[in-house]
Amino acid sequence: MNIYDIATIDGDGIGPEVCQSAQTVLREACASRLRFTPWPGGAAHYAKTGSVLPDETFAACRAAHAILHGAAGLPGITYPDGTEVGNDLHLQLRFKLDLFANVRPIRLYQGVQSPLSGWSAGQIDYVIVRENTEGLYASRGAGVNLRGEVVTDTLVVTRKGVERVARFAFELARRRNGAPRDGQRRVTVCDKANILRSYAFFRAVCDEVAQEYADVAMDYAYADAITVHMLKKPDFYDVIVAENMFGDIISDLGAGTVGGLGIAASAELGEAHGLFQGAHGSAPDIAGQDIASPLATILSGALMLRWLGERHADAALTQAAARVERAVESVLAAAQHVPHDLGGHARCSEITRAVCQELR
Ligand code: IPM
Ligand code: MN
Repeated sequence: MNIYDIATIDGDGIGPEVCQSAQTVLREACASRLRFTPWPGGAAHYAKTGSVLPDETFAACRAAHAILHGAAGLPGITYPDGTEVGNDLHLQLRFKLDLFANVRPIRLYQGVQSPLSGWSAGQIDYVIVRENTEGLYASRGAGVNLRGEVVTDTLVVTRKGVERVARFAFELARRRNGAPRDGQRRVTVCDKANILRSYAFFRAVCDEVAQEYADVAMDYAYADAITVHMLKKPDFYDVIVAENMFGDIISDLGAGTVGGLGIAASAELGEAHGLFQGAHGSAPDIAGQDIASPLATILSGALMLRWLGERHADAALTQAAARVERAVESVLAAAQHVPHDLGGHARCSEITRAVCQELR
């Protein structure tokens, strides 16, 4: 029976408490199948040592079956160029491990009130697949700064980069049950092909890949227009694929329509590695007070179990993933332990216990 090595990086702010919470739930779900090993990294570590991602941490992440992360970043801890140190932890892992698909489920759970009126649980259920290794982020740390007068970053779109993220999106659509509105398996390409050649190229390569998926409907939405559609017809969407920067922006908007970043899970996947973390930040203002919501990281842990289960044909893990998701759904539906970000007063530890109780 496989034992899976999971490298964990607690990180900064609420990172340690939400990462520990997720491990408690995952142990409850999988008993001894997961071996968690903590590794240092993040802004506070940088402040102490000068390294945001130590070599031994990176080596452990590369060797592990999966990576579970809390959060990273602290205000005021920046590089000389002004960019935040904490974010560099994520970005180094993304680029060095080539985690090209950033998978961000957007789902309205029973018991959670959407700020969009008239939508109930199950009617908003789509996944944003954000290209995670190029686009406008390819320029990070490589932009031009001329005499402090002209500073530029270049948007990079490669054929390989688009092919693989588009194929990932179509394969994901094939595994889902289609959009809530009509049950149609659908991939929506989010771009600005009407304006920029790079996005026209992004769309053209997605179109080429779409030829292989006659069973999945193709849909297009400009990045500005989709922000309106995500509010007015969220049930239309099944899978949305977008360039890195657009994906970063619309995934926060999507999370906002289903309760916020406190419930926003993410799976950052490459050919050989997976990084699982809540899509939220380190929220240093509430760190250490046991009031952060662990749900985003717990749901990211469920995504990790599902990913490991599929990769290793390990049905027990796939089943455990479903049980964790159902336990979270039950806790939310019961509304006895509502996190602060969803309008309640439940403590992180209480929510963790409630999810474990549901698992039992
Ligand atoms: C995200 C975050 C990151 C990003 C930061 C933390 C590097 O906003 O994962 O959405 O900009 O992609
Ligand atoms: Mn973001």
